[in-house]
Amino acid sequence: MITKDTIAKIIDTAQIEQVVGDFVNLKKAGSLLKGNCPFHQEKTPSFVVNPNKNIFKCFGCGKGGDSLTFIMEHEKFSFPEALRFLANKYHIEIEETQTTVEDKQIQDEKESLIIALGYAAKFYQTQLTETEDGIAIGLSYFKERGFLDETLNTFQLGYSQDSYDAFYKQAIKDGYNPEILLKAGLIKEKAGKYYDFFRDRVMFPIFNVSGKVVAFGGRMLKNKNPDSAAYNPKYINTAETDVYHKGQILYGISHAKNDIRKEDVCYLVEGYTDVISLYQAGIRNVVASSGTALTKEQVQLIRRFTQNIVILYDGDAAGVKAALRGLDIVLEQGLNVRLVLLPDGDDPDSFVKKNGTDETLDFIAKNQQDFILFKATQGIKDIGNDPIKKSEVIRDIVQSIALVQDNIKRQLYVKHCADIVGVPENILVNEANKIRVQQFKKSKEIDDTHAQALTEHVKVEEVHHQSIDKTPQLYYQEKDIIRILLEFGDKEMDKEQLVSEYVIFELVDIEFKNNVFGRIMQLFLEAYQNNTPFEDFKNLNNVDDKEVKDALIDLLSSPYELSPNWFDKHEIVVKDANRTYKTDVISVMSRFKYFKLMELIKILDDKIKNAETSGNFEEMTAFLMKKMSLMETRKQLVKEIQTVTHPH
Ligand code: CTP
Ligand code: MN
Repeated sequence: MITKDTIAKIIDTAQIEQVVGDFVNLKKAGSLLKGNCPFHQEKTPSFVVNPNKNIFKCFGCGKGGDSLTFIMEHEKFSFPEALRFLANKYHIEIEETQTTVEDKQIQDEKESLIIALGYAAKFYQTQLTETEDGIAIGLSYFKERGFLDETLNTFQLGYSQDSYDAFYKQAIKDGYNPEILLKAGLIKEKAGKYYDFFRDRVMFPIFNVSGKVVAFGGRMLKNKNPDSAAYNPKYINTAETDVYHKGQILYGISHAKNDIRKEDVCYLVEGYTDVISLYQAGIRNVVASSGTALTKEQVQLIRRFTQNIVILYDGDAAGVKAALRGLDIVLEQGLNVRLVLLPDGDDPDSFVKKNGTDETLDFIAKNQQDFILFKATQGIKDIGNDPIKKSEVIRDIVQSIALVQDNIKRQLYVKHCADIVGVPENILVNEANKIRVQQFKKSKEIDDTHAQALTEHVKVEEVHHQSIDKTPQLYYQEKDIIRILLEFGDKEMDKEQLVSEYVIFELVDIEFKNNVFGRIMQLFLEAYQNNTPFEDFKNLNNVDDKEVKDALIDLLSSPYELSPNWFDKHEIVVKDANRTYKTDVISVMSRFKYFKLMELIKILDDKIKNAETSGNFEEMTAFLMKKMSLMETRKQLVKEIQTVTHPH
C-alpha cells in the first residue's frame, strides 16, 4: 500500500496544467487555460483548467476533478496506477507500507509488462554498445546511417544478437517471470521451450505518450536474405499486448509532443528512421504512422497538441496511396491537412541527409499543397473518359469535401474541385449535401450525448404534456419556420449558405410536434438532399400528400409576417427600418428555440417540485443545475433576438 504521506506529496506536487498539458493542447484564457475536451468530441473548446485551484472541468460533458482523477479517467488507470504515474512524472519516491509476497505477485500486470519492456530496452541498448557483435554489426550499421551517439541514446536504439535465447536467459537470471515476458511480446514459446522474439536485428523501442517503452520494432540488417522478404521481413514488430495497441500509438510522440505544441504543426512520416533522422536534424515535431493507415485514435492523439498536420511522404505511387488513406480520418477530426511529396525515391530520412535542415524546412514550406485538391487532381489523372470511373472519383472527392466543417472553406473546395474534375458545381454541391445531412445526424448522435439524453427524456414527457397543453405555442413557431423556408429559402443567409440550408441544419435533429408541418420539413430535407430546384418545390410539383398540399397552399397564400405581440410581451423593441429577411429568419429560429426551451424548463420545474416533496434533495439539486443552464441559454437567446433587432 502506498503511504498517506506519499499520496499527499503527489497530490501537492502535481500541477494540473502540466498533467493535463501532456494530453491536451491548452491555450491561455485569462487566468485559466482552455482546450478541446479529451473525454468527448468537440470542435470548440469547453474544457477548462484552473491552475489556481488545481482542477479541471469540462462544460461540455461535465467531467471534472484534479490531476489524479484526470489521469485515472484519461489513461483508464486505477487509483494506485495513477499515483505511480504522477509520482514518476514528478520523480517522487513512493513509500509503501509492508507488502506481502502475495501482494507482490498480484502486482498490477500492466505495470510488470512496462517494467519488463523497459528492462528489455536497456538490455538491447547494452548489447549495442558493449558487446563485440553489437558494436561490429549493430552500432556500425547505425553509424553508417549517420545516427549520432546522442540520437542512439535519445531513441534508446539497441541490438538483438543472432542467438536463440540470449535475452530470455538473461531476463530469467535477473528475476523476470516468463509469463510476463511472453505477455510483453518479448519471447515466444514452442514445444515447451522459450525463445527470443527479436533476433539478429537492430532494435527501435516504441514509446507511449508519456515516454515508456511499450513495444519494439526490430529491423533486419542489410544484405541478409535479401530474396526472402516474405519469410524475413524488413521489420518485425511487437504484436498487440495489454500495453501496446498499434492503432493508438504514433512512433516518436513522446519526443515530439512539446515541439508539436510549440510549432503548432505535426509532421507525419512513414518510418521509424524518418522520425529519427528529422529529429537529429533538429526537426522535432515529427511522428510516424509506422507504415499503416492512420487511425482515428492516432489523429486524436495528434489533436491533443495541434490542429495542423503536414504529411511528408515519398512521391512514388505507393507513398501517395498511403498518404491518401489517412486523409478522411484527419478531415473528420477537424484537422487541417497539407501534403508534401518528396522527390521520387526520397523519404524524409534520405532527403534531410542529402539536403540538410534548412533546405528541408524550406522544401516543406514551398511544396505544401492542399490535400483535397491534390486528391482531385490525382483522382482524375488516369481515368480518361470512362463515365463510371469518373463518377466514382467524384463521389470519393465529395466524400472528403463533405468532411470539411468550415462552410467557406468547403464552398471553395467545391468550386476548385468542380474545375479540376470538369463537372458543374451544383453536382458536387448536391452530393456533398446528401453526405453532410447524414453526417450531421450521425455526429449529433455521438457528439451531444448529453443534450440528446435531455431531448430524448423530454420527448417522452412531451407526450404527456401535449394532452395538457391546450394552445401549444410551438404550433405557431413551427408554422413560422415553414413560412420563412417557403418565402426566403432560396435567399442567402450568409456568404456561403442559403436560408434553407441554415434552417434545415439547425433543426435536422428536432421533430416537429405538428404532424403536417413535420412532413413538410421532411419534404424540405429531401428536396435539399436531392438538390430539387426551389421553384419546383414551391410549385408543389411533386407533392402528392393532400394534407401537406393544402397546408402549403394555405401557407403560400399568407406570407410570413413578424408578429409584433411576441416582442412586446418580452419588452424587445423592433425597429422596422432594421428588419431584413435575415433578421426575420433569425428571430423565427430564436423564438422556436425559445419556446422549446420554455417547455423544457416547465417540465424541469415539475420535476424539481416532485423531488422536493419526496425529499430527494440530490435529485432536486441536479434538476436545479439543469434548469440553471437552460436559463442561461434562454438569456443568450433573448440577447440574440435583441441584437438581431438592434443591429449596431
Ligand atoms: N514497416 C513494418 N514492417 C515492414 C516494413 C515496414 O512495420 N515489413 C513499418 C515500419 O514502421 C517502418 C515503416 O513501416 O518504419 C516504413 O517503412 P520503410 O519506409 O520501408 O522503413 P524505414 O523506417 O524507412 O526503414 P529504412 O530506412 O531502414 O529502410
Ligand atoms: Mn527509409
